[in-house]
Amino acid sequence: MKEISARLQRRLLSLAMEAATTAGEFIVSRQRDIGTITFKSARNPVTETDLQAEHRIIGAIKRVFPDHLVISEESGAGKNESEFVWWIDPLDGTTNFSHGYPHFAVSIALEYRGKLQLGVVYDPVRQELFRATRGNGSYLGRRHIRVSPVKSLLRALMSTGFPYDPRSHPRALKIFSRIVTRTQGVRRDGSAALNLCYLAAGRFDGFWEIGLKPWDTAAGVVILEEAGGRVTDLEGKRFEIREGDVLASNRLLHRQLLNAVRVNQHPKGDKRCA
Ligand code: IPD
Ligand code: CA
Ligand code: CA
Repeated sequence: MKEISARLQRRLLSLAMEAATTAGEFIVSRQRDIGTITFKSARNPVTETDLQAEHRIIGAIKRVFPDHLVISEESGAGKNESEFVWWIDPLDGTTNFSHGYPHFAVSIALEYRGKLQLGVVYDPVRQELFRATRGNGSYLGRRHIRVSPVKSLLRALMSTGFPYDPRSHPRALKIFSRIVTRTQGVRRDGSAALNLCYLAAGRFDGFWEIGLKPWDTAAGVVILEEAGGRVTDLEGKRFEIREGDVLASNRLLHRQLLNAVRVNQHPKGDKRCA
């Protein structure tokens, strides 16, 4: 398969970093005046700030690469076809943002010929920029990051999120109860993109969620894999951003986590099944 040249990769990365940082600064500037909140479903909010940040990011990409396909959470997909597909979540953590809870991020990823090539996630509150390009490792600012060396579930700090769609809740709650009883703890902090980046940086040891969208995971998955982590679906099959059930780990814990999330069967020798 034809690869992107190193020069083009650098150009694409710096565009993504610039767009994420600019949008993040805009979002933070709107924290006290987030604009109108509307609901896409009973619990799924979108603010004017989401829309304006998205508009800025799409504009920044289209100015330089008008032929690329851009798919973003609030605007959907452009009409053109391209080998280059940008996945954008202008504000991952809108529920947090709309409550003044300062934990959210901008997430931008690029897929080329079906393969994720780069990911950028910017937390404008802490001014933390996570980034990776395929084959070149992951970085937080200038620092190279790696997943944690934690090997035992009892020492693992996990993170998760819950789907907006209540129909998925019974399964999500069953899995939650199985993981929370087997690990050191579980955080549920409202930004899947940051969950994946924190796992990449060794702050978490694992993450799972049901029913995510490609813009939630695309950037974080590149950053995690380049930091040495592993991502599959909840059955251990290859993770596809378009499918959305994700189990991610520091690699060392992956098999134990797969056993723990199996809600319909008792893992071998495990007497604590929920
Ligand atoms: C949400 C966040 C949250 C996750 C939800 C996502 P949004 O994205 O990533 O952590 O639990 O499933 O939809 O709506 O804030 O962009
Ligand atoms: Ca999101
Ligand atoms: Ca969003």
